[in-house]
Amino acid sequence: MLDSFLRSVDPEWPATLGRLYPRIHAVDRDATRIWFSLYPLLLHERSEVTGDRAAFEVFYQLRGPYRLQDAIHTSHRFLYGHRFWPAARRATLSADVAGTLEETVAAVARQMDHPEPLSLGIAAIALMTLRQAPERMRTSEPAPSSSHTETPEAWLKRREAKPGFFGRLTSKPRIVFNEQDPAGSFPLNPTQDITMAACEDKRPYHLHDPRCFEDMGPIPVECRSGSCGTCWVGVLGGNENLSPATAYERKRMEYLGYWDAGFEDRAAARPLIRLACQTQASGPASIVIPPWCGVFGPTRREREPGRHNEGGCVS
Ligand code: FES
Repeated sequence: MLDSFLRSVDPEWPATLGRLYPRIHAVDRDATRIWFSLYPLLLHERSEVTGDRAAFEVFYQLRGPYRLQDAIHTSHRFLYGHRFWPAARRATLSADVAGTLEETVAAVARQMDHPEPLSLGIAAIALMTLRQAPERMRTSEPAPSSSHTETPEAWLKRREAKPGFFGRLTSKPRIVFNEQDPAGSFPLNPTQDITMAACEDKRPYHLHDPRCFEDMGPIPVECRSGSCGTCWVGVLGGNENLSPATAYERKRMEYLGYWDAGFEDRAAARPLIRLACQTQASGPASIVIPPWCGVFGPTRREREPGRHNEGGCVS
């Protein structure tokens, strides 16, 4: 019953999340929006109906693990609410339709026994995960949550910490790409673009992500000119330290299809989803590096006829 309900409300997700976002704790509000941009239903639907996965991946220029079903327990690691995932999964699997999609998300969140602002984001993610990966959701058990004592306020404060006067004099600002890992950051020379700064980080990221090149940092890059879409990132914090998106970056994002209708404010001066090679940073920021990249803007435009067909082709 819940499965068929979820299949019937696909078009309602953007408006529903728009109403839920103000109720989500600030620590996970933008993170939830980023997650929904990272796992678009459109790509899932197309991948479900393809008869030739290899041809599908070539057509959409897909690289890296793009299917939510392969990452149901880890896709949301960058959320504070990730620690509540076992409870969110349990509540989702025992849930029934509770009226509208919004009411169903809220009902799942209530079953989790945590304050609603901390539960809503991961509850919405759990329902979308059930929508995209029902079998895996039911049969794959997550590892028990490890104990975390950091409060969401402390987490948020750490994300937004600004160096003091002497800190600015003595050390470079940093771009954090993994908030859970004390070593998950690299230094920045202010006004550098984010991929250029990442290249100064010589750790062997290519051993874990085949899209990365040796000695070129944790953010996969190819063209460095805004064409290929390899370097897309989500911005969790420090957006005010990033350059506004230019008209060129906007065109490329439309072409690449990363700005999902409803989940991303395309008119914002500093959107939450950016091309790192087109984004200069003047101070610290916290980002999410998606595990995959591809080009599906043309398909998105077929679905959303009102969208501009700009940005040119990617050869
Ligand atoms: S590296 Fe190609 S778009 Fe940034």
